Amino acid sequence: MNSRDRYPPGMGNGGRNPNNNYYGRSTHQQQQQSQQQYVQRNAVQNQQSHQNQTYHRQMIMQQQQQQWTRRNQMESESSGNDSTKVTQTASVVDPSSQDWKSQLTIPSTDTRYRTEDVTATKGNEFEDYFLKRELLMGIYEKGFERPSPIQEESIPIALTGSDILARAKNGTGKTAAFCIPILEKINQDKNVIQAVILVPTRELALQTSQVCKELGKHLKIQVMVTTGGTSLKDDIMRLYQPVHLLVGTPGRILDLTKKGICVLKDCAMLAMDEADKLLSPEFQPSVGHLIRFMPPTRQILLFSATFPVTVKDFKDRYLSKAYIINLMDELTLKGITQYYAFVEERQKVHCLNTLFSKLQINQSIIFCNSVNRVELLAKKITELGYSCFYIHAKMLQDHRNRVFHDFRNGACRNLVCTDLFTRGIDIQAVNVVINFDFPKNSETYLHRVGRSGRFGHLGLAVNLITYEDRYNLYRMEQELGTEIKQIPSQIDQAIYCR
Ligand SMILES: Nc1ncnc2c1ncn2[C@@H]1O[C@H](COP(=O)(O)OP(=O)(O)OP(=O)(O)O)[C@@H](O)[C@H]1O
Ligand SMILES: [Mg+2]
Repeated sequence: MNSRDRYPPGMGNGGRNPNNNYYGRSTHQQQQQSQQQYVQRNAVQNQQSHQNQTYHRQMIMQQQQQQWTRRNQMESESSGNDSTKVTQTASVVDPSSQDWKSQLTIPSTDTRYRTEDVTATKGNEFEDYFLKRELLMGIYEKGFERPSPIQEESIPIALTGSDILARAKNGTGKTAAFCIPILEKINQDKNVIQAVILVPTRELALQTSQVCKELGKHLKIQVMVTTGGTSLKDDIMRLYQPVHLLVGTPGRILDLTKKGICVLKDCAMLAMDEADKLLSPEFQPSVGHLIRFMPPTRQILLFSATFPVTVKDFKDRYLSKAYIINLMDELTLKGITQYYAFVEERQKVHCLNTLFSKLQINQSIIFCNSVNRVELLAKKITELGYSCFYIHAKMLQDHRNRVFHDFRNGACRNLVCTDLFTRGIDIQAVNVVINFDFPKNSETYLHRVGRSGRFGHLGLAVNLITYEDRYNLYRMEQELGTEIKQIPSQIDQAIYCR
């Protein structure tokens, strides 16, 4: 049977292990419990009789294929195009009441250990910024107690209308650092697009628009997400209704703008997340073109953890007086321990198997350098008996959305992917990143390993290094000023599971 027939796109199947113990973005108590409960299936379990395995796997695959088809139907019926949906949950809290804060539904406090990357603040409170009460309500209901260092630096400056070029480590809260001032400054009574948030990938667009909707839950700001791979017609229809904040990828927004459907003449704010990526040759022409549709007085906010020198031309041209924030005196996260394992190419899968059996993986992201290798590896992992999904840019968008959604919700422990998921993707439960293929440059390396250890939490990065990679490994250590140690035979759980 053709492997493509057996595996629904994006699913390496591996369905025998339904990840009962997995924690998604559930309450922290649940997370702790499941982390204690979980021990990944060891090699002994993998040595069941071959016949049994094959039969069992085929059964499960059939079931999963059916489930997959059913779920896809449900998805298209229930969600349609994400860009057509605007989340506005009616507030039951009276913002004008004296004890508004005590009426909020605040998630339980995350008591996991956090590093100085997020705890070394000046001690500001969100209330210090005189934000709208409704916005404060959304911030607290999202579980943010006080601003992170990058939020302390950016929010007050962005509120003054100044352009910003901000650099801060992965997972330290850059998204809210630009979303909060944008939501504050939008006038909800003015029915025009007042702000655009540009991001380089569709999945990041969905994630960022969700953050805006959550933070703005008690405001009457209409957020629309628009990306390639979805129906243009639906986006056009949606734009006939009020939109205050548009989040999306450059190509689609430019397309809608050139058609005159998306009107940016009153758009006073442009945030570019992963700005260096958006200024790479792949995106820069579209971005430059889009800016020309905006008023000359627009405020531009550039955010990323990496700003290679190539960004300088853009900065000098469009943000000559920008306020510069750089919180990266060192580049790598304090909470992430980085290891390498020296292997031959043909030993990589075996090595991964050993890692699976030894590590306390809560959720992992495994990076490969090509679409083909992602699919092949997902299949191998499945054959080893571990659950895994896969995602890459050559998949249909519906399938990409389904995989992203399900992985985020903990339907599967491991995700194999290309660099599609390297930037910005925020899944708090990921504690292990594996570079099955070593990346080609240090920016990519930094963003990849930053998928774990979110918001100052602990994480582990393991790099499988072949003979050909050895100079790259050395170069990246130098460029990032970090140490990638040889993997020991035993890894103390306390360094990535606390
Ligand atoms: N003030 C805060 N208090 C608590 N949690 C926060 C706060 N700000 C952000 N977070 C959480 O931290 C996580 C990481 O935030 P975010 O995705 O914005 O990081 P980032 O700096 O953009 O990272 P990356 O460089 O990888 O894109 C998110 O889950 C977010 O909800
Ligand atoms: Mg980000």
